[in-house]
Amino acid sequence: MDLYIIVFFLISIILWPSVTSEILTPVDPPTDLQIIDLGHLGPLHIRWKAPLSLTNKKLCVVRYQLIYCNVDSTNCKRVITRQLQHTDGFNLNKGVNVTIQTRVKEHCKRGSERHSDWIDMVYWPSLEGHVDSKVKNLQCIVYNLKYMDCLWQKGANAPPDVNYRLYYWHEEMERVMECNKYLKNQGDKVGCHFHSEELIEFSDFNICINGTSGLGPVRPVYYVLQLQNLVKPAAPHKINMTASKNGIIYLQWEPPAGEVKPHCLEYEVNFSGKDSDWESKIVLEETTITLLNMTAKSKFCVRLRATVNMFCADDAFWSDWSSTHCLTDYSDEEGNAVVKSNLLGELILLTALASITLVLLVAILGCWISWKQSFAKRKLNMLLTEQTRSIKKRKCLSYGNIGQMF
Ligand SMILES: *[C@@H]1O[C@H](CO)[C@@H](O)[C@H](O)[C@H]1NC(C)=O
Ligand SMILES: *[C@@H]1O[C@H](CO)[C@@H](O)[C@H](O)[C@H]1NC(C)=O
Repeated sequence: MDLYIIVFFLISIILWPSVTSEILTPVDPPTDLQIIDLGHLGPLHIRWKAPLSLTNKKLCVVRYQLIYCNVDSTNCKRVITRQLQHTDGFNLNKGVNVTIQTRVKEHCKRGSERHSDWIDMVYWPSLEGHVDSKVKNLQCIVYNLKYMDCLWQKGANAPPDVNYRLYYWHEEMERVMECNKYLKNQGDKVGCHFHSEELIEFSDFNICINGTSGLGPVRPVYYVLQLQNLVKPAAPHKINMTASKNGIIYLQWEPPAGEVKPHCLEYEVNFSGKDSDWESKIVLEETTITLLNMTAKSKFCVRLRATVNMFCADDAFWSDWSSTHCLTDYSDEEGNAVVKSNLLGELILLTALASITLVLLVAILGCWISWKQSFAKRKLNMLLTEQTRSIKKRKCLSYGNIGQMF
């Protein structure tokens, strides 16, 4: 920071004569500032004239700096232009404040830019009627990029006989149009239906809803929409679910019919989780997923919904859920998860039984052989003592005990 100050100081000393001369010849602000409503429900045209003092001078650069925003807003835009006019979209529910100054560079090679004082102007759109006579809670949804429905609610302080009207404009329209197809509830206008040809994406879609009443003026209200952020796709359809070995579920579907590009979609897959809750997975762009039937229930269900992904819009609505698809009562290749768990149990039981049988058989065989041997020996060799026989018997008993252990 200090370095900057020192550098600035040095430059000031070097340029001292020119700086003083610049201070002595002030620049005048522009004149005749005007703010003109083009009648397009948002855009305002700002124009001005160059200060008289500059008209016959040979100058390097003359530019104008504009700062504008709504009256009580701090989110102002700053524009520097060589033109004598500027057009931009505004929120006409409030006053608009525009300030402007002239900026001049007398010599192109050296010298800093000098600027005039600011002049400002406030533009007030016509705001007659009670503030709560205007409609409220406008909600617009672009269904599948095919059509748009906008719905509103009557103002809290609207006259009972109020007759609202909706007007709209975007940059591809020559002039403002009134809603072509009102949505009505018991005779009252509560919304407007727009066809796809009337819509525009990635550009301001300006709406004004005003109205008439025999009891006095009705406050107009303005909206500026970006329609690509209000899209609600149709639900995914043609859902195809197959189960393979080991409880793996293969799910496939088709992107919802309509104008939303498949690469702009994102899906949420709901599938049977533990207990009766859904588990959820997000799938970007793809239209397949493999799931594992972890819970090994005999019934496995899925449902899907779609939305526009973050690569195609800043915001979007979720579609409705698709119908729920279930695999029930597994047969042949289906439902292996259930079969698998039973098989495992049976396998353990069978192995256990087989081992017991084997051990028993070996024990019996051993008994039989030793008994047979001792019998033969007794017959052939009468010299064998009683002791020897009792040992053989004990052996037999111990084999029997092993068998009982299992
Ligand atoms: C409502 O707005 C439209 C479009 O700006 C305008 O033509 C019309 O005169 C207005 N109606 C009323 C009653 O102010
Ligand atoms: C469903 O998926 C199976 C296996 O991938 C396939 O053979 C079948 O043709 C699909 N059916 C439909 C209607 O897409």
